Amino acid sequence: MPTCYLGLDIGTSSTKVLLMELNGTVLASCAPEYPFRTPRPLWAEADPEDWWKATIEGIRTVIAKAGVKPSDVAGIGLSGQMHGLVMLDSEGKVLRPCIMWNDQRTAAQCAELTEKVGAEKVLAITGNPILPGFTAGKILWVRQNEPEVYARCAKVLLPKDYIRYRLSGVYASEVSDASGTSLLDVPARKWSKVMLEAAGIPESWMPELSESPDISSHLSAQAAELTGLAQGLPIAGGGGDQAAQAVGCGIVEEGLISATFGTSGVVFAHSRQYRGEPQGKLHAFCAAVPGEWHLMGVMLSAAGSLQWFRDALGQAEVAKAKAEGKHPYALFDEMAATVPAGSEGLFFLPYLSGERTPHPDPLARGAFVGLTLRHGNAEIVRSVLEGITYGMLDSVELMRNLGIVSRTIVASGGGARSALWRQMMADAFNTPIAMVNATEGAAYGAALLAAVGTKAYADVRTAAAKCIATKVAAEPGKDVAIYAKAYPSYKALYPALKQSFKDIAAL
Ligand code: XUL
Repeated sequence: MPTCYLGLDIGTSSTKVLLMELNGTVLASCAPEYPFRTPRPLWAEADPEDWWKATIEGIRTVIAKAGVKPSDVAGIGLSGQMHGLVMLDSEGKVLRPCIMWNDQRTAAQCAELTEKVGAEKVLAITGNPILPGFTAGKILWVRQNEPEVYARCAKVLLPKDYIRYRLSGVYASEVSDASGTSLLDVPARKWSKVMLEAAGIPESWMPELSESPDISSHLSAQAAELTGLAQGLPIAGGGGDQAAQAVGCGIVEEGLISATFGTSGVVFAHSRQYRGEPQGKLHAFCAAVPGEWHLMGVMLSAAGSLQWFRDALGQAEVAKAKAEGKHPYALFDEMAATVPAGSEGLFFLPYLSGERTPHPDPLARGAFVGLTLRHGNAEIVRSVLEGITYGMLDSVELMRNLGIVSRTIVASGGGARSALWRQMMADAFNTPIAMVNATEGAAYGAALLAAVGTKAYADVRTAAAKCIATKVAAEPGKDVAIYAKAYPSYKALYPALKQSFKDIAAL
C-alpha cells in the first residue's frame, strides 16, 4: 500500500475524516455527525466529547474502508471550525461546553476590550476588530458570568487543538486558527502580550504556536490504542477550516480568490504580504502557507439560510423530494430555475444569526423584502439563493476595492455542487466560476499540510500544484445585467433596516 495521510475537519455538525494518498487521491472519507445546541437566542454551544467520539469513529472507518495498514499512514493533519472556546482545568478536563464561532452573546465584552485597547490599536495588532464570534470575548464572558468555571481554567484551546490534545496530550495550536482569537499579533504571528494583558488572560493558558505544516505533536500510546494507528505518528499544526480549505482548493498564491458555501459563506483571498482592510471589514488572518496571510469575508448563514428554508418553509418540498427519490436541494434548484433572475422583486437578507461581513452586527436579522401575492415558495427559494449570493458579492466587492481581482473565483462547499447556483454566482460576480478536482475541502487541505510537514512535499505550493486541478464551471451569462441592477437595491436594505434590527432586539 502507498504512503497515505489522514485529514480531519472538526466541523459544526460533523467531523470529516479522509485518507489521502501522497499523489492526492482520496482513498476513503466519512463524516460522523453530532448536534450543536442553541440554549438561548444568539447562543451556540457544542460538546467537545462529541468531536472526540466522531474522530475515533471516523479514523477507524476510513482505515477499514480503504483497507490500509496503520503503518501505511505517515501523518495526520487537523483543521476545524475556528474561534470556538474550549476551557480546560489543570488536569485537561473540559470545564463547560464549547462556545462556538456562531455564538453572538459577547457584544458587551468585545466593546469593553476594544475600549480598553483602542479600536485602532486592536486593528493594527490583530488585523481585525474584536468580533463577538471571536474567542477573546468568550473568555471574558465566562469570567463575568461563570466565575466558578473561570477560576478553575488552566488552558484554552480551539476546537481542532482540543482534538490534537486528545490525540497527543500536547497543548499546541498554529497561527491560522490563532488569528481568529483577537489575541494574536497577526502581522508578527505570535500571541500578543498587549491583548492578553488588556484582557487579563494569563499567557500560560495559551497553547504553543507553530506554522501550519510544522509537526507540533505525535500520537500518544493511548490514542494509538483507541484509533488503531501507530504510536508516535506525526501530527501537523494544521489550520483553521478556512485556511485549510484554501489549501485544499489550491488558493495558495497571490491573486487567487475562492468562495466557499458551507453553513457559513466565505470569500477568501491569499496574500504574500500582510495587508488589512482599512476599516477591518475583511478579516486579515495568517495563512496556512508559512509567512503569508489571507483576507476573508465571512457570512454567518450561507447554506445555513437554505437549510433554514428547508426546515421552516420547505417541508412540503422535502416530502415531495422524498417521494420522487431526489435530494431536497435538487428540488429547490428545479423550483428556483422556474423563476427569472431577480425573483420578481423579492429580496432576502441572510442575516439569520447576525452577520460579520460586511456588517459586523450580532443584532442583524433575516428578512424578506418585496413580497407580493404573486410570490410562492419557488420565488422564495430563489430569493434565498440570491440573497446569499449578494452577501458573498459584498465581500468580493470589498476585495475589488483593495485591488484584489481574480480572473476566476473557485467555488467550493456544498452549495457549489448546484449548477444553478454556480451560474448565479458567475452572473452576480460577473466572473467565471471554477471548480477544483478535490471536493473534500478543509480535511483535504489538512491532509496536504501533513504531507508537507512530513517532508513528502517541499512546501504547500508544491503540494497544491501536484494534487489540485482547476476547471471553469460557469461563465457570466445573460443575467449579468439583471444582477448588476438588483444588487444596489439589496445593498440599500441593511442600512435602511439597521435601526429596526436594534429596536427589535430590544423589544
Ligand atoms: C471563519 C468562521 C467559520 C467557522 C466555521 O472565520 O467563523 O468559517 O470556522 O466553519
